[in-house]
Amino acid sequence: MAIWNLGSINIDHVYRVPHLPAPGETLSALEYSQGLGGKGANQSVAAARAGAICHHIGAIGPSSGWVLDELTGYGVDLAHVTVGAVPTGHAIINVDPQAENSIVIYPGANRAITAEMAASALSGAVAGDSLLLQNETSAQAEAAAIAASKGLRVIYSAAPFDIAAVRAVLPHVSLLVMNEIEAEQLRAAEGALPPLDCIITKGAQGAEWVSPNVAPLFMPAFKVAPVDTTGAGDTFIGTLAAALDLGLAPEAAMRRASGASAIQVTRAGAAQAIPMAAEVDTFLNTRS
Ligand code: RIB
Repeated sequence: MAIWNLGSINIDHVYRVPHLPAPGETLSALEYSQGLGGKGANQSVAAARAGAICHHIGAIGPSSGWVLDELTGYGVDLAHVTVGAVPTGHAIINVDPQAENSIVIYPGANRAITAEMAASALSGAVAGDSLLLQNETSAQAEAAAIAASKGLRVIYSAAPFDIAAVRAVLPHVSLLVMNEIEAEQLRAAEGALPPLDCIITKGAQGAEWVSPNVAPLFMPAFKVAPVDTTGAGDTFIGTLAAALDLGLAPEAAMRRASGASAIQVTRAGAAQAIPMAAEVDTFLNTRS
């Protein structure tokens, strides 16, 4: 089958800082680097590197063709990525010595994606394919509705959390992925989590798959020494989506996703740090 991903493509500006800045504080960065990011692009790279056929649906602006070259190099299909006049989205990312980050995004071209563009791309999708969505683009609800009506598995990351966007997409979702903060925000807004399959990622603790139908499944995180946790959740989701698409059962898919993110956090950057399937195999073979 195939994975379709209506997702952001960002240029990440990464600053290594001695600590995350406090309100009103001016801080000198220790290092600066630029790389490919965006929750969407990271998930597409993870899915492709995990062995899935991945079609990215997105948009960039002028003078940033290198991001497309990089995505193509990772094996992502870009037939449904448009280049327009609105600037490419970007992110300002501060990373502290404990590998934690804070991120500000400028959506740019990611929010210039229309429902028509998404519908046109998804005309090629078939029942059994998967659609990945996050909250850094436009047209998520329309894309989710089309995908659900065609029998796709709709995997939605409620990040960055926005209750209006979540409410619009939720009726079409098969698997909702949140971190603990997003899950708490959703509980606070709705009184409870929705009665559907949800994965709650818990950073260094691991991830839990809760379902109205079966017992919860907890996957502890592998212990590693992280240098940069940017994109770890995206790596988990893209790898998990690929594993499910390739026919793995939930527990095996969660283990692969956990292994891929464990490797990813030991390297600097977002997309560039995502491991190939063979690296994940080797890693998992050394762990119980
Ligand atoms: O999840 C990490 C990503 O969030 C970064 O790559 C950044 O671009 C933002 O989208």
